[in-house]
Amino acid sequence: MAFSFSTFFNKPQKSVLGVDIGTSSIKVVQLRRDRGKVILETYGAIALGPYADIEIGRATALPAEKIAEALKDVIREANVTTTDAAISIPYSSSLISILRLPSAVEKQLAQVVPIEARKYIPVPINEVLLDWFVVGGGGKGAEPSDKIEVLLVAIHNDTITKFRTISSEAALVTGFFEIEVFSAVRAALEHGIAPVAVVDMGAATTKFYVVERGLIHESHIINHGSQDLTLAASRALNISIAEAEERKRKFGLTGGGASTDPGGWEELQKSLELSLSPLLSDISRTVTAYEARANQSLNALVLTGGGATLKGMQAFAQGKIQTEIRLADPFSKTETPAFLEEILKEAGPEFSVAVGLALRRLQEIG
Ligand SMILES: Nc1ncnc2c1ncn2[C@@H]1O[C@H](COP(=O)(O)OP(=O)(O)OP(=O)(O)O)[C@@H](O)[C@H]1O
Ligand SMILES: [Mg+2]
Repeated sequence: MAFSFSTFFNKPQKSVLGVDIGTSSIKVVQLRRDRGKVILETYGAIALGPYADIEIGRATALPAEKIAEALKDVIREANVTTTDAAISIPYSSSLISILRLPSAVEKQLAQVVPIEARKYIPVPINEVLLDWFVVGGGGKGAEPSDKIEVLLVAIHNDTITKFRTISSEAALVTGFFEIEVFSAVRAALEHGIAPVAVVDMGAATTKFYVVERGLIHESHIINHGSQDLTLAASRALNISIAEAEERKRKFGLTGGGASTDPGGWEELQKSLELSLSPLLSDISRTVTAYEARANQSLNALVLTGGGATLKGMQAFAQGKIQTEIRLADPFSKTETPAFLEEILKEAGPEFSVAVGLALRRLQEIG
């Protein structure tokens, strides 16, 4: 019997797929571990608009079958070679709250949390899947306390059923479903203890998560998203929504390096800035409210989601918001070909959730 050290140590690892089903598009990222390194094998995105007979970049509400169809298409287009997947559940389909409980019950959370949860969850408890994490208080915080903070997460059974259907129709074997909050934070943040916020700029909404010592402390949803920019630009420039979306992506706030002014990007820029303002004010207000409540300031805002890839976003946001603004760079947690580095840095924010899912799945099978 031959025993080879090289096959023992370099055992080829299985590839895994992170699947982020957003309202406007599906993102997939395939990773593999090789000698302790995480290799990016492939990635791709597909707009859901066309499956709902609306424009690219807009939010949709599609049934499982249509989503599965799009998922199969992007799996094919991106040359995905694995069926071992992890799928995100939208934040909007979940309920997340913080319970403050006496420290004494820390050992009995399995009994106590479902009872306490009834106060927060508007549907019968047996209709939801419950999960929880101790995130503060007791011995965890800076000051000892007789209360613990428990992050409570609930997902309706119907939602789980829908995502199981999508998974099986797309012929995936899904290791876990995870609320996108956790995936985004895993991919967008470096280890650190200072409180920061991850701001996920999606199509119809923007999600705001406060993270401290790696744990999520608060989450909010802001009802402004990147599609608002397109719709406003379409009205202001009197062009179709599809055309406005295309110009938004191409020129952004900076003209995208154009030396001339093809089709009036300055007008586009004005319109984009105008419609970004209410979103940035909302973010700013959310920061201020958190800082007043928690009596501590946020170290940085890490922007993620497709909306964060708008050209010039970081500089423009920094001009409006005091807190340091960074862009998420999830692919930096993976090994990528050098010639792709620039592209992956720019596209990165859009893929945070998918990267975060795949990273956790790799760890699980590791
Ligand atoms: N290069 C780009 N420049 C500007 N905006 C962009 C760019 N690429 C995508 N977007 C915008 O990002 C938005 C989609 O972002 P993302 O894919 O994160 O949303 P989603 O995950 O589908 O939505 P949600 O998370 O709210 O469900 C769209 O409105 C789109 O117009
Ligand atoms: Mg999203």
